Amino acid sequence: MVDEAIKGLHIEKGLKYIDCTAGNGGHMEAILKMGGQVLGIDLDPAMLAVTQKRLEIFRDFKLVQGNFVNIDRIARNNNWSPVNGILLDLGVSNIHLKDLERGFSFENPEAILDMRLDPNTQDIKGSDLLNILREDQLEDLFSVSLDPGAAKWITGRVLHSRMAKPVETVGDMLEICEGLRTGKPGMSIATLPFLALRIAVNSELTNLKEVLPVAFDLLESDGRLVVISFHSGEDKIVKEFIKGKGQTGEGKMITFAPIRAGETEIDLNRRARSAKMRIIQKI
Ligand SMILES: C[S@@+](CC[C@H](N)C(=O)[O-])C[C@H]1O[C@@H](n2cnc3c(N)ncnc32)[C@H](O)[C@@H]1O
Repeated sequence: MVDEAIKGLHIEKGLKYIDCTAGNGGHMEAILKMGGQVLGIDLDPAMLAVTQKRLEIFRDFKLVQGNFVNIDRIARNNNWSPVNGILLDLGVSNIHLKDLERGFSFENPEAILDMRLDPNTQDIKGSDLLNILREDQLEDLFSVSLDPGAAKWITGRVLHSRMAKPVETVGDMLEICEGLRTGKPGMSIATLPFLALRIAVNSELTNLKEVLPVAFDLLESDGRLVVISFHSGEDKIVKEFIKGKGQTGEGKMITFAPIRAGETEIDLNRRARSAKMRIIQKI
């Protein structure tokens, strides 16, 4: 949703923006082409190398490796606040989902079930969570993307599997998922359990709750916060936050219903089906 996000951010030449989720630099490139200056943050050091290469012909940008929950410190250290717009394009990139070695994709059963975005600072892999969490904790973890019955079912499968041997690989997790009745037609049965595990490994919902108020505070008046989410748990957090700021009069809701990707984009990128974009403007 590059065009929609750029329109939502109201890019103006020479003004400052932050892309909290630089990824492979698509949104940053679009901001730079419109004359904006952009500070890009990404938790995954590997993604920054990709972005740096993509943006090598531009000058008005900085890239910082870090967690967007630290946006306030990162912005101040880089003399990048206040700003005119902030973008969060949540989750992982297509590069992650296609990577056969890091455990995000279920295409390579031999891969370690890792899923950490920053292996240098995060100690707990996906396999570790499956091996150490208690039954109730596992049910909570899977409830993020599965209904309670399915979350209970898959928890039982994890407990049973790890009694025989610790869970280690993507293949182990795929076996655990076998027989799960959930998801939508055409969706792999492994999609939702993998999503729940990835969200837990990277504390994605907690990070989102923490970053929204801090990012909002960094905005100039009239500055905009644009958030693209891919999962109902995320969208709920964004919706509540935006509604709250509208009610207190600190912000003006620009979107009352989320903006969705167009059919052409969905044809090119299946993941865009679940994308929802919401925008708030600081008053
Ligand atoms: C959907 S991709 C962004 C794609 C990007 N907008 C583009 O145009 O290419 C999400 C990115 O956010 C990064 N990310 C996820 N959680 C993060 C966090 N807490 N802090 C910083 N980056 C994070 C991921 O590593 C990933 O590269």
